[in-house]
Amino acid sequence: PAALKVALLGGGTVGSQAARILTEDAEALRDRVGAPLELTGIAVRSRGAERDWRADPALYTTDAEALVDGADIVIELMGGIEPARTLIRRALAAGTSVITGNKALLAQHGEELFALASETGAQLSFEAAVAGAIPILRPLRDSLSGDTVTRVMGIANGTTNFILDRMDTEGADFADALAEAQRLGYAEADPTADVGGLDAAAKAAILATLSFGAPYTLDDVAVEGITAITAEDNAAAADAGYVIKLLAIAERATAEDGTSGAVLRVHPTLLPREHPLASVRGAYNAVFVEAENAGQLMFYGPGAGGAPTASAVMGDVVSIAQRIVRGGPARLRTPVAHLPALDAAEASTSC
Ligand code: HSE
Repeated sequence: PAALKVALLGGGTVGSQAARILTEDAEALRDRVGAPLELTGIAVRSRGAERDWRADPALYTTDAEALVDGADIVIELMGGIEPARTLIRRALAAGTSVITGNKALLAQHGEELFALASETGAQLSFEAAVAGAIPILRPLRDSLSGDTVTRVMGIANGTTNFILDRMDTEGADFADALAEAQRLGYAEADPTADVGGLDAAAKAAILATLSFGAPYTLDDVAVEGITAITAEDNAAAADAGYVIKLLAIAERATAEDGTSGAVLRVHPTLLPREHPLASVRGAYNAVFVEAENAGQLMFYGPGAGGAPTASAVMGDVVSIAQRIVRGGPARLRTPVAHLPALDAAEASTSC
């Protein structure tokens, strides 16, 4: 079969690793997909910039639109709202499926993008947007779709977990630990999104949308980051048998007037040292899910960094490419528009 043309938008930490895998693992990917995946170009802001991994220099381009127009599959790893949103819309409007790791974009404009994808039959996949390499979105959307998720609680930002862990175990200074997280490729281009809790909040909105079947956005999340946490806080927590973790929490709830929905929040939390989430070290993430029939589940693994996040990206690429090769529909189920009503007795079991 003919090669599938793959356009990559973004040549940063994750984009470079996706380019590396598409290049180095081309044969294995071809065997799994049933057709070659041809990386047709990498859209970047500056062709001469430093890269974690360098592709063939001829692949780098600043003309992202032309790259999108010639593609069968688009991978968006540029981050930020614009031009990512316009480029993704351009691809989806043409019926071209898109894989993105852009949690900020999905948490603000996901509904609009999914509606467009569903109009044109394109697929929009985003396993890489939450918790790096950890397969968490498909389990929530597919494997648990026969159950009722009551609460999702996660360490969903690797940078802040890395900083808090270094402060807790080595007495590291906040700024030094952040600088190291940046050097290791965990932090966002603008790390205030990490330490201020907004990156975790975007992930909370995505997790809630998949868990509770209604579109939640960044505006639905109460957010407090870790910038006010001091060495003294860590020492006091440790003395009392706790560890401080930045948690993203989404739980089903019923308001006093009987309205059902979910409450979403991100904040530093004192966790007893024996809690499973307390043992999550470094830039690892974990998502703790509670469902009515399944009980408690924990998903754990590398939550940030180039190669782990690119692993999640490539899983989506292969899955979309296989559908294209098989000629099946590329469409995924999109979230339902409204939450079903939940009575107070049912809701109280989630607390
Ligand atoms: N900056 C993010 C983090 C990257 O530290 O978790 C992964 O989404």
